[in-house]
Amino acid sequence: MERLKLAILISGRGSNMQALIDGCRKKTGEHGSIPADINLVLSNRADAAGLARAKAAGLPTQVISHRDYPDRAAFDAALDGALRAADVNFVCLAGFMRLLTADFIEGWHNRMINIHPSLLPAFPGLDTHKRALDEGVKFAGCTVHFVRFETDTGPIVAQAALPVLPDDTEDTLAARILAAEHRLYPLALRLIAEGRVQIHGGRALVDGKAPSPAALLNPMD
Ligand code: GRF
Repeated sequence: MERLKLAILISGRGSNMQALIDGCRKKTGEHGSIPADINLVLSNRADAAGLARAKAAGLPTQVISHRDYPDRAAFDAALDGALRAADVNFVCLAGFMRLLTADFIEGWHNRMINIHPSLLPAFPGLDTHKRALDEGVKFAGCTVHFVRFETDTGPIVAQAALPVLPDDTEDTLAARILAAEHRLYPLALRLIAEGRVQIHGGRALVDGKAPSPAALLNPMD
């Protein structure tokens, strides 16, 4: 399959972006190496800490502020133009805090993934950790999924599950989930980059080769 040429879209600290950069930087054959190039890191906020991390990694960065556009359609058109200009063929959302229009999402159909810090379809949207604690769920986790129009929906590539501990706070739960995100997102992207993920209807099917289903649920380093 065609080699992935990525854009990573961020709005903030960019720790998941960093995990993807690290995976793409690994040499072919090295454990966890992702066969993809990062063509662009794009932020809608000039003050996103992740931009400095991307620059430190020597990657091209671009800021397109939503404030400079009259509406979502115009902002998304600018975004789309920047991605096409950078010769991107696959988009990774990594803490990108803008809702995207149906047109934009359609333009990147099955070519855009997101990471969300819950076991979707539970707790889409914001305040996931607080809502999980309020509901008293015993397992939490994170999900990498292809992007569809409804927020935090779309075929699920991989999930990591972890127990909620009795004395967890939003912060402690978020920290453990974030550590899992940093293992899960590179794994999910690697599976896609290796051509091992097929979408059938609402499901993303991963081929039978390793990693095992257990590794998809609870990926280890
Ligand atoms: C992560 O928790 C991710 O799941 C969510 O936004 C957060 C981004 O964190 N979509 P970072 O910018 O990757 O550190």
